[in-house]
Amino acid sequence: MELIFATHNANKVKEIKSILPAQLQIISLSEANILEEIEEPFDTIEENSETKAKFIFSNYSKNCFSEDTGLIVPSLNGEPGVKSARYAGEDANAEKNIKKLLHNLKDSSNRDAYFKTVITLIIDGQQLQFIGICEGTIIDTTIGNEGFGYDPIFVPNGSTKTFAEMNLEEKNKFSHRKKAMAKLIDFLNTNS
Ligand code: IMP
Repeated sequence: MELIFATHNANKVKEIKSILPAQLQIISLSEANILEEIEEPFDTIEENSETKAKFIFSNYSKNCFSEDTGLIVPSLNGEPGVKSARYAGEDANAEKNIKKLLHNLKDSSNRDAYFKTVITLIIDGQQLQFIGICEGTIIDTTIGNEGFGYDPIFVPNGSTKTFAEMNLEEKNKFSHRKKAMAKLIDFLNTNS
């Protein structure tokens, strides 16, 4: 089976391709030569995830899935949350986002956080969502060079390493994206 993965994020493509069973082929937007940017205008991770899959299905009539992820810090009222990519402003990058988050957390004794991934699958017109959550802690400095985004400051529960100190196989033992993807794969296995 072939599914278009509605993302331009090469890191996400790499992670998702590392967990696929042989019978499922993922085609990224760049591999499908779809170069348009897809807006993420909503206030929830669920809606932003949905809009990306709907864009591909309505414009290209292809079975597809999308994912949207946020880092949620309860002691900061859920920030950066749905704004995780642009936390430090429109010209944000991972370094600026991390700097802002560490600054906002500097006086906080509660550094609990979790990643939440929402995958939207549209297959033969049927739409479903799958959620994966990874709980952990935000440390007060960056450690590690692997991964992307907030990985250098996030230590998942059950580990002493940040995601940025882990290779893909290790990150997948904990990862929000892996958990959501496992539910999607389970659905396809039982329904096709
Ligand atoms: P989006 O899902 O592309 O909107 O990403 C939201 C933000 O969260 C971006 O800044 C990503 O870099 C970050 N992000 C998404 N997934 C991960 C992850 O697995 N680890 C660290 N940061 C992530």
